[in-house]
Amino acid sequence: MKLGRFNHIGVVTPSITDSIAHWRDVMGATSISEPFDLPAQGVKVCFVDTPVEGPTNGTQIELIEPLDEDSPIFGFLTKNPLGGQHHVCFEVPDIHAAKAEFEAMGKRVLGEPRIGAHGTLIFFVHPKDMGGMLTEIMETPKGH
Ligand code: CO
Repeated sequence: MKLGRFNHIGVVTPSITDSIAHWRDVMGATSISEPFDLPAQGVKVCFVDTPVEGPTNGTQIELIEPLDEDSPIFGFLTKNPLGGQHHVCFEVPDIHAAKAEFEAMGKRVLGEPRIGAHGTLIFFVHPKDMGGMLTEIMETPKGH
């Protein structure tokens, strides 16, 4: 497995609008994308940018709100009504190679690679095989 850049942390929220206000007004974020729907995954998402400082470049906070009660993250909000930390995401150069490597190590990859919120292929690895962290692996966007 070739570990790439730490891309984002995923945070579930009962209200993406309230969370945007929190990150803007409490945390001082100045760059927040417009929320958009990912109907195939049952969620609405947006990204809060952290500034580019020195050698580490701006990672993001992904705010995720369920589109409806059928959303895969609806149960997370039932257990955590305030929302909260949901997953971490790391980039890899080759998504299919990474999937094969995780599977060769006996890690449970959840489903086939699919287009994620950044428009590149992603998959998730089961938290029970990852020290308790639901882990998203995403192919590095071209041009980065
Ligand atoms: Co994510």
